Amino acid sequence: MRMVDIIEKKRDGGVLTDEEIRFFISGYVDGSIPDYQASALAMAIYFRGMDDHEIAVLTDAMMHSGDVIDLSNIQGIKADKHSTGGVGDKTSLAAGPIVAACGVKMAKMSGRGLGHTGGTLDKLESIPGFRIGLTIEEFENQVNKIGLAIIGQTGEVVPADKKLYALRDVTATVPSVPLIASSIMSKKLAGGSDIILLDVKVGDGAFMKTKEDAMELATKMVAIGKQLGRKVIAVLTKMEEPLGRAVGNSLEVKEAIETLNGGGPADFNELVYDATAKILLAAGKVKTLEEGFEKSKEVVADGSALRKFAEMVEAQGGDPEYIYHPEKFPQSKYDVAILSDRDGYVARIAAHDIGVAAMRLGAGRETMEDAIDPSAGILLCKKVGDFVKAGEPLAHAYTNKENAEEVFAEIGHCFYLAEEEVPVEPIIIASID
Ligand code: URA
Repeated sequence: MRMVDIIEKKRDGGVLTDEEIRFFISGYVDGSIPDYQASALAMAIYFRGMDDHEIAVLTDAMMHSGDVIDLSNIQGIKADKHSTGGVGDKTSLAAGPIVAACGVKMAKMSGRGLGHTGGTLDKLESIPGFRIGLTIEEFENQVNKIGLAIIGQTGEVVPADKKLYALRDVTATVPSVPLIASSIMSKKLAGGSDIILLDVKVGDGAFMKTKEDAMELATKMVAIGKQLGRKVIAVLTKMEEPLGRAVGNSLEVKEAIETLNGGGPADFNELVYDATAKILLAAGKVKTLEEGFEKSKEVVADGSALRKFAEMVEAQGGDPEYIYHPEKFPQSKYDVAILSDRDGYVARIAAHDIGVAAMRLGAGRETMEDAIDPSAGILLCKKVGDFVKAGEPLAHAYTNKENAEEVFAEIGHCFYLAEEEVPVEPIIIASID
């Protein structure tokens, strides 16, 4: 079998055989297929798509490219959650500790930033000392002991996605239903949890721009999970403006801490509590969603969710003092207010462009080799629906880069103002299970 023939077949719209898909995944992982051929195939899949059988085989081949975690010796129900990627999406950082504080074990494997979106691992690594690279044994022990662990894909688990994810990030091949579905589901299935909550983002800041595409992705992922006997719930959520106010790694950790302290932006709270209530219901911890909301709010109010976050940070080598005293996080050299040039109601904040601007300030990677600046990013002072006066700040930009004036101007252009009041729509669009 030759990789070039497989690329050609997909380029011309053909359906790949099981053997061809498995040949590609095993060759890419063992290094016999180079990055340039893998990116050519990813681009062919991006344009030509894959049928349901091809996606199932790709997911299975990726899942079995490394170890498959067996969490069966951990007592109790294990839950996992995953987002398809958005701007300002730090939901796992708040939802994980809440769920764990309610007694459902969260065993989560996360990813790094992809394209214009941030990644949970990059956010966690902004906490000094935090280690995302636990061994499988350490991961299992930690979930058993404190009920919560968030780790990166170790070389041992889904190495195929580890390589492909980084490659897709820099070859404009992220927004493809087969590639996203197989990437997410291979990790979630190899992660071994009983319950998987998928947050499928829709809108300008998401990879899926339309509700139809997001619904297709959600339905495919739920179907793949069910075939393998897992409880999978998908939620379609709005990603037109950034989620919450913070975009950028330590800024987002601080916002998650604020939320675990009972504060935080309204849209972020709505999403976090919806996710935790759904997980608690699926795990049988509560009988209704309302009860799930109540229980989640209780563990925030009594401080046990924040303590759970600090416990996880400490268990993974990080300094828990940053969780109790977030003012300790280093500040970037420049803090620039982006001012409104007129009065008006904020009608739209272009989430994708805010994500790109945050990346250019240092919060994300433009090439695979780029290092992340943990303190860089954007803090929104105004959200959709808010009124702003001329001269008031729309946002603050944080960076250590010199000469970022062009990016500051770009941030200003992301805000669209209207003369009339603008209604704020709910963040949850639909649920599929
Ligand atoms: N999240 C993932 O884990 N993979 C993708 O391809 C996109 C978002």
